Amino acid sequence: MTDSHRPHYHFLPAHGWMNDPNGLIFAGGRYHLFYQYNPFGNVWNSIHWGHASSADLVHWQHHPLALTPEAGSFDEDGVFSGCAVLDGETPTLMYTAHRFLEGGAELQVLSLATSDASLLEWTKHPRNPVLEADSAPLAVTGFRDPFLWREGQTWHLAVGAGLEYGPGLVLHYTSNHLLEWNYQGVLLQAALEPDLKPEPNAAPGLARRLGFWECPCFMALEDPASPLEGKSSHVLLVSRIPQRDVRYFVGHYDGLRLRPTLEGALDVQGCFYAPQSFQDASGRTLCFGWLAEEGAAGLGHPRPGSEWNGVMSLPRVLTLERGRLHQTPAPELEALRFETLLDLERVLESGVQQVLPVQGDALELELTFRLEGLTSFELALRCSPDLREDGAGEETRLHFEEASGVLSLDRSRSSASNSTAHVSQTILSLADSRDNTSPTLTLRVFLDASVLEVFTLGQSLSARIYPSRADSLGIALMARGENLQVRVQIWALEDVWDEG
Ligand code: FRU
Repeated sequence: MTDSHRPHYHFLPAHGWMNDPNGLIFAGGRYHLFYQYNPFGNVWNSIHWGHASSADLVHWQHHPLALTPEAGSFDEDGVFSGCAVLDGETPTLMYTAHRFLEGGAELQVLSLATSDASLLEWTKHPRNPVLEADSAPLAVTGFRDPFLWREGQTWHLAVGAGLEYGPGLVLHYTSNHLLEWNYQGVLLQAALEPDLKPEPNAAPGLARRLGFWECPCFMALEDPASPLEGKSSHVLLVSRIPQRDVRYFVGHYDGLRLRPTLEGALDVQGCFYAPQSFQDASGRTLCFGWLAEEGAAGLGHPRPGSEWNGVMSLPRVLTLERGRLHQTPAPELEALRFETLLDLERVLESGVQQVLPVQGDALELELTFRLEGLTSFELALRCSPDLREDGAGEETRLHFEEASGVLSLDRSRSSASNSTAHVSQTILSLADSRDNTSPTLTLRVFLDASVLEVFTLGQSLSARIYPSRADSLGIALMARGENLQVRVQIWALEDVWDEG
């Protein structure tokens, strides 16, 4: 049976559960993507490291499992998230070895694995684990997701953690050779929000956890707006428990700590989580994030009848623009455009819905609106032919309001069956991102079966949708308030998984 929700050009394994991107690295002329993976089923369990690589960021080749949990070892209950580096010439993974203790407490230690230049066969280091939580003079509720970078001859390491009865934080270590580590203090700690309480259903072993910062990523980015010499600023990404969102912090790094001058959301709260960034040979900083399922059963839950669970986001380029973190789709994605379906300029009459003469569920749309006359517009995707204002039919609607600068996604009618997304409304505030110098506003929309990624003004909104009807493929546009001039470009995108 064909699976109408399975993406055509996003990365995902053939079957099984996938969560965080891990070990992102450009090596030997290829992009390597490792990922948290359960090969045995579509639920989070028995976490391995899956592996794929690509020469062009859009066509992926699956490889054998990179890391497997081993009974009786520190990683017997899972090989959790981590990163990849070249240690001299040696490809090296640093990962979290995870074991459950009685009462649901978690023992997490950090370990290494190495490979030859193929990056295909990994050997766990005989001296594992190389770092444990008691190396820090703090009581923490978890110790995971190592992220490595190099400064001169020294390796630096960020580790995600949470203080017992305290907030999330990122620990900072240094080393000369990855095997022995010196604790350098806290890279950054969350402010303690007074209303943070232990999670009501937490296992007894996790009852002391209030906040936790997972999957730290730390990077220097060129920043023309920086007052500092050298014109670069440092950026930390963290994925937060219990908020389950991704925050970024931009600021000054003195070699020990980050002093943030600005913070913001990376993508919107929802399916996008646990992004990891890396630099490629050209010096660009790229990132991928996990797009969890958002079906009726809740975030990450398997959908009935589906053998897979979880999708990787498209690759995004990270830059700093006027001090803020920007994400734009990697230019390589343009190689997916195999047919231009539409390219027209049009004036949208206020209040009149224009159904476009184009259909599909593997599309890229670029909409460029003239700001003059822009009050409000709506873009409806995955519309069924019987769509009516009175609520019949299926559609997924993006809505932009110029006055508030808010882009919102309404999924309340995405699916006529009861498998609708459990969150129906998602909001992206663009008010702070406007620069008032451009006469237009451009929206780039990637639609891929159940995946939607929208980019505008350096911000992104990712969501999952599950239309129940095979003919929910229509697209419609509408202006409200005033007539509105728009250029619409739509491309059919390649099915990179189609072997035929
Ligand atoms: C984030 C995360 C990481 C952990 C991994 C386990 O989604 O919880 O902190 O290493 O997933 O799969």
